Amino acid sequence: MQNSCTQKAMYEPVAIHDKKDAPALAALEAQCFSSGWSVKQYEAVLTDSNYLIFALCDEKNIRAYVVAYHVQDELEILNIGTAPEYRRMGCAARLIRHLQENVCPRYAIRRIILDVRPSNKPALALYTRFNFVEAGRRRRYYAPDGEDALFLEWLRPQ
Ligand SMILES: CC(C)(COP(=O)(O)OP(=O)(O)OC[C@H]1O[C@@H](n2cnc3c(N)ncnc32)[C@H](O)[C@@H]1OP(=O)(O)O)[C@@H](O)C(=O)NCCC(=O)NCCS
Repeated sequence: MQNSCTQKAMYEPVAIHDKKDAPALAALEAQCFSSGWSVKQYEAVLTDSNYLIFALCDEKNIRAYVVAYHVQDELEILNIGTAPEYRRMGCAARLIRHLQENVCPRYAIRRIILDVRPSNKPALALYTRFNFVEAGRRRRYYAPDGEDALFLEWLRPQ
């Protein structure tokens, strides 16, 4: 079965909203996170219009993705990941820029928020580069190790 990516260039973010893409998303997520969302979880969020999912693809498959949840004027980045062999090529940067420059104006979003492990240096460097700042810390947020979460926010310039 064709996935949603096959007609697009690698650096053009594609909106994903078809349940047929759930297996590819879950497979990539398993490469990026030790306890990521399952195919069933992706099937559920792909039918909920509050979730926005964007991907970058090569000619065959999803290579980077971002999952965000939006309510009113706020967008929360829930998951973002790039396939290991495609890292440090600007994929995550392209997706964050797409959220800030295109998605936020389209949905009248004023603030993007997210949680990140303080030990996740690549992710912290990514968010810092895109002007996210620390807005709080959630103690012992992550299971199973109990690492704190840094709560970051980006405010859309007025
Ligand atoms: C974090 C992650 C999404 C970055 O994806 P990526 O596509 O490799 O990132 P990019 O190539 O777009 O990098 C953009 C910027 O992020 C920063 N960055 C990304 N990876 C980095 C690394 N390993 N070390 C230091 N800085 C890094 C840099 O500032 C980089 O800009 P530069 O290459 O011009 O220096 C990727 O490492 C990943 O999938 N990690 C596992 C999942 C994860 O931890 N997600 C975040 C959860 S909060």
